[in-house]
Amino acid sequence: MSLKESSRKIIVTSALPYANASLHLGNILELVQTDIWVRFQRLIGNECTYVCADDAHGTPIMLKAEELNKSPETLIQEVYKDHKETFDLFNISTDNFYTTHSDENRELSELIFNQLNQNGLIETRTIKQLYDAEKGMFLSDRYIKGTCPKCESTDQYGDNCEVCSATYDATELIDPISVLSKTTPEIRDTEHLFFRLSTLKDSIHEWISNSSVQSQVINKLSEWLDGDLRDWDISRDEPYFGFPIPGHKGKYFYVWVDAPIGYLASHKNYLNKNQRNDEFSDYWNPDTSSELYHFIGKDIMYFHTLFFPAMLRHSNFRSPTGVFVHGFLTINGEKMSKSRGTFILAKTYLDNLDSEYLRYFYATKLGPGIDDIDLNLEDFKQRVNTDLVGKFVNIGSRSAKFINKDFNNLLASELHEPELLKEFLKTSLEIKTLYEARDFNKAMREIMALADKANQYIDKMEPWVISKQDPKDKLVHQICTTSLNLFRILAIMLTPVLPELTNKISTFLNEDKFTWDSIDKNLLGHNIRQFKPLLGRIEDKSITQLIKSTE
Ligand code: MSP
Ligand code: ZN
Repeated sequence: MSLKESSRKIIVTSALPYANASLHLGNILELVQTDIWVRFQRLIGNECTYVCADDAHGTPIMLKAEELNKSPETLIQEVYKDHKETFDLFNISTDNFYTTHSDENRELSELIFNQLNQNGLIETRTIKQLYDAEKGMFLSDRYIKGTCPKCESTDQYGDNCEVCSATYDATELIDPISVLSKTTPEIRDTEHLFFRLSTLKDSIHEWISNSSVQSQVINKLSEWLDGDLRDWDISRDEPYFGFPIPGHKGKYFYVWVDAPIGYLASHKNYLNKNQRNDEFSDYWNPDTSSELYHFIGKDIMYFHTLFFPAMLRHSNFRSPTGVFVHGFLTINGEKMSKSRGTFILAKTYLDNLDSEYLRYFYATKLGPGIDDIDLNLEDFKQRVNTDLVGKFVNIGSRSAKFINKDFNNLLASELHEPELLKEFLKTSLEIKTLYEARDFNKAMREIMALADKANQYIDKMEPWVISKQDPKDKLVHQICTTSLNLFRILAIMLTPVLPELTNKISTFLNEDKFTWDSIDKNLLGHNIRQFKPLLGRIEDKSITQLIKSTE
């Protein structure tokens, strides 16, 4: 089979960040997880398209713009620019980073809505909702506070009580107050549109059992699916920043309707930009052989595993091949919080430290599960300095020295210890499987265990001792050629995690971009370039400075 025939076509997404704030290190955890997997797929020769966008609609964005005295359009443009910069600075290799506030997304949202409607899955109902007469708008739960109807604790939000964990309807709150105007809202009737999810239990079950969804996620979903799966309210009243619902004056699509459709819209925009318009249906028709994966945090799994697949399945689109859920980032063991100084913005991090450090650290922490992940700053410094700089980079610098200085940059024509290379190549097969399974932490452990072996080999051979007697000794030449070939294998395996560092290494080795296929190619009798420092250690003062700038 030729490479082309065997290669998979894959679309991958990260969740679309809200366009009302800068990205923080929790967002970066997700982007790095996605990017490592995407880069791995491309490295092994698959066609992998990575699309993302800003999630530009909804009440919080509308209110934030109002507060800043800007139009929502201006706000989302500014945030877009800021997000795009952060993506680039962390080397997140999206093929398209778009916005949900686009023509493609409006058209697709209308199309999907119309299809669902034609399939009898949309229903109009009159509901009672709290209305803020001063603001002139209906209030969603987060904008209402009052006394819990069950335990009478004061100052509780409109959907559930943090004291007794009761869930209720906002209209049941005692003494409700609008968070926006501090006035007492009134109860008003309003017509809403519902997606009749309650009729689709079987279909959702079927999707889950045929898709790649982690078992911990399925357990959580079962609570919902086995209980009463309620119809989903998909409309919001004006004023709202979003797409109007065709045929329903004054009604808008709830932001969570057009947000995931934004994945399709971003992909469509990408294809159009590349004169590939006619390929859209190849990827999105129900019988497509292409694969679709969504990387998301655990807070938004219901949208991605219940609502979105159901929407797609019943509007004549393909549904996701898999949804990969990750846990939340904590910092020094604590939830990220502005008041505790543990809320670190991505750009604040970058003012003090290199993006590759964090990419590596996240890789050592990320697995296929949904447990939370801690960024302990001391641990972070240790891991990076010990593994990345102390073990990995060190192999290159200690071997290159001799080749550059005494052998005119030319590698020997024979290896000293070919067996060691064979062992590395054998382990590389396991590492490939670990990457595919998103078991990055195990992959990093295996890679660093190999780095230890390479260093032990150099320690044992002591090329510096032989070199002292005769700098041109053939053995020195062969030892350093062997260790640089080991270094090269490790670099190829680290390419998905460390794009900048490994790019410098392929340049140093005087090679084209690394591919996984070329991992068993030995560099012999080959000219390399002058070794330049690749990556320094993390200094205490950078960490101190980072903490200081978050306080
Ligand atoms: N706009 C929605 C997603 C729509 S997808 C069609 C949203 N945006 S978000 O900006 O709040 O979050 C974006 C992603 O970042 C989500 O997957 C979310 O789970 C993730 N994270 C937000 N905070 C996080 C941590 N502290 N840790 C890890 N991931 C976190 O939700
Ligand atoms: Zn209560």
